[in-house]
Amino acid sequence: MPTIVILGASGDLTSRKLIPSLYQLHRKKRLPADTNIIGFSRTPFTDDAWRTQLTETTKKFVGEDFDEKLWAEFAAKVFYQPGDMNDDASFKALCGKLEEVEKGSNASRVYYLATSPHFYLETVDRLGASGLATENGSSTRRLVVEKPFGVDAESAKSLNTDLHRVFKERQVYRIDHYLGKETVQNILVLRFANSIFEPLWNRNYIDHVQITAAEEVKIGRRAGYYDTSGIMRDMFQNHLLQLMTITAMEAPSRFEADYVRNEKVKVLQSIRPMTPEEVAKHTLRAQYVGYREEPGVSKDSQTATFAVAKLHVDNWRWQGVPFYLRSGKAMSCRTTQIVIQFRDPPHMLFTNEKKKHQKVEANRLVIHIQPAEGIQVHFQTKVPDAGMKMRLTTLDFRFDSQFQGSMPDGYERLLLDVMSGDASLFTRADEVELAWGIVDPILKAWDEHSEPPLAMYEPGEWGPTESLYWMGSDDRQWLDVCPVLAKHGA
Ligand code: BG6
Repeated sequence: MPTIVILGASGDLTSRKLIPSLYQLHRKKRLPADTNIIGFSRTPFTDDAWRTQLTETTKKFVGEDFDEKLWAEFAAKVFYQPGDMNDDASFKALCGKLEEVEKGSNASRVYYLATSPHFYLETVDRLGASGLATENGSSTRRLVVEKPFGVDAESAKSLNTDLHRVFKERQVYRIDHYLGKETVQNILVLRFANSIFEPLWNRNYIDHVQITAAEEVKIGRRAGYYDTSGIMRDMFQNHLLQLMTITAMEAPSRFEADYVRNEKVKVLQSIRPMTPEEVAKHTLRAQYVGYREEPGVSKDSQTATFAVAKLHVDNWRWQGVPFYLRSGKAMSCRTTQIVIQFRDPPHMLFTNEKKKHQKVEANRLVIHIQPAEGIQVHFQTKVPDAGMKMRLTTLDFRFDSQFQGSMPDGYERLLLDVMSGDASLFTRADEVELAWGIVDPILKAWDEHSEPPLAMYEPGEWGPTESLYWMGSDDRQWLDVCPVLAKHGA
């Protein structure tokens, strides 16, 4: 009988993600029987008042999956304890609430830090001081920590030290919600449950890799966080580097947390750190026009809302194969994709009508993480009845044409994994520190030097035009395609 305690429960994350995902797990009969959920935060709700509020928000976020009867069953598991993260008495009251809800059973507990990162330390200290972190026989105590995990390597390290004073590493689950996405886990399946890709998955066949996470949205009302964070901390340090490590890692010998994370750590250790001169050459940063007019953003903000970085992995598999990472807000469309760009054929047999050797686009494997989840192989095909003319054609796999139902939210899988104690899809202390170690020199060089200068781009573009030239100067091109969202066959 697990209890999930959401600390900082009145925030957005709880109503948008955590409660809808837990409700979906209940609906799918995957939530362990007798699970209880306790929300803890300052707003003075009663159990019923919180349930009423969650009814409305959950309806909104789960849409047609909302079922009155199932919701009533689920809501009966939901409780609320008002309290302050800085106050010992509130934690005493939380202990009382836990006793009341758990009715003396020896329940395992998951503490979910959904607070602002400023409160992590106090909250964890108080969990420790009030005895809430102490495991009791078979009943476990686990701590879930949201991003951002620190703002640089030093702060991440000190946060790890602080957490470890109260919780052991095996009890800590650091969330990167990208790892909860089905299509991200499918990269592991694509690579390690098929034998046809592995022989090609290296420097002998791959020219380069592009990882793009483009968002159409702007920063909305998040200026307070975003203006000090920017795209590097918000997307690169976590989501993009996670996608990169999964793409680049060696096959672990078992699908178990430490085996998987050891391989990811090796990739991060192999990424070549950049000098300021290299940062000037191998990164770009830009801001969308209008960003400085967003509410709460300073008028002379230098925060990047778009960036690209060319990273090298110094190991046998990837020597000489650049990984181009790119992300931005206010871009043409929302798409997250990984492009494995293969090399040109070594010799071109076919000539065009002027007897010149045809220059053709090389093969690509495009992994669409979202929103049009699927995988495409691009390959040359003879155009019928046109001599030896060729065209790039596509083998197209789409999840929605092969499988029923909609994609679950990543939080469903992650919450289940925490409850069952599987940390494979969570970042380990060393992993998060290493990821900061890659991003820190870039941020430092951006702060201290004016190279690369902050470019500007119009919302609705694929970033600044500089990005095209930058890629062009490597004799390569971005694959800029917005996904086709119509249902397959529709
Ligand atoms: C979050 C970032 O971690 O990821 C947001 O803070 C970003 O700025 C979001 O919009 C993107 O997540 P997804 O799942 O919509 O790609």
